[in-house]
Amino acid sequence: MSVRLRSIALCKKLSLSTAVSFNIFDNRLIFPPIRNPRRVLDCGYGAGNWALEVAERYPHCQVIGVDISPHMQPLDIPDNLWLQVDNLNRSFTFPSRHFDLVHSRLVASGIDRSRWSSYVRDLVRVTKRGGWVQMVEIYFNVQSDNGSITERHALREWSRRYMRALEDLKDLRVAPRLGSLMTAAGLQEVDMRMIQLPLSAWSSDPRSRQIGASNRSNIHQLLESLALYPLTHRLHMTLDEFNSLIDRARAEVDNHTLKAYFPL
Ligand SMILES: C[S@@+](CC[C@H](N)C(=O)[O-])C[C@H]1O[C@@H](n2cnc3c(N)ncnc32)[C@H](O)[C@@H]1O
Repeated sequence: MSVRLRSIALCKKLSLSTAVSFNIFDNRLIFPPIRNPRRVLDCGYGAGNWALEVAERYPHCQVIGVDISPHMQPLDIPDNLWLQVDNLNRSFTFPSRHFDLVHSRLVASGIDRSRWSSYVRDLVRVTKRGGWVQMVEIYFNVQSDNGSITERHALREWSRRYMRALEDLKDLRVAPRLGSLMTAAGLQEVDMRMIQLPLSAWSSDPRSRQIGASNRSNIHQLLESLALYPLTHRLHMTLDEFNSLIDRARAEVDNHTLKAYFPL
């Protein structure tokens, strides 16, 4: 009998609200065909939305969440959910072949550049044979399929500067590489999808327009909160220069002719 580990990779955007992530993933928490998971690990659980949903949907499943910063924990934690403090940049101490599903979403800004290969190997090591690894990351380079966003646009300048500011520490371009990292870590049946996360309600498709509408204010905040420290402290932009860039980038988010999105 052949025993195979399978994985699925999607690339997406940062800190999605529950509403946006449910819409963009068609209300699916778990992409691989798992019917009754018994043990699930969520790496970098954040506010715990995903781990909590899984624990509630599968009451007989043990769900463990790990995060370096346990400050956004949900108030009501079901009995089958355990939230632990740990650093994903250190080797995992979980037993090998332990989890049916290992989930890692939007942790690229916290994973050290040199850690990625061993991080994915750790995800694979703790996954049962026949289990799955589900990873989601955003590619921070703002795109537009109609070619209207050029290197001169503020959104592209934001992307360029943000990724450059942290490039010696973190790999913010890791999203398109997730599939090859998984394959290199020994997974089989790697399924990699790139989907669009519209930054505002520019789409003529009603579902995509709804996602963009829900996402817009989040994106307005993220442009500032993600980049403030990297651009002012690491690239030494003045606060005036930074604020001007953010104002122009936000205006471009709201310019529906640009059709801006983050690959996910
Ligand atoms: C953008 S949030 C994503 C949260 C959640 N996965 C989601 O998709 O909504 C990133 C989370 O990863 C955590 N994180 C970042 N670096 C980490 C590390 N080295 N070890 C553990 N957690 C980390 C952060 O504390 C934060 O809660």
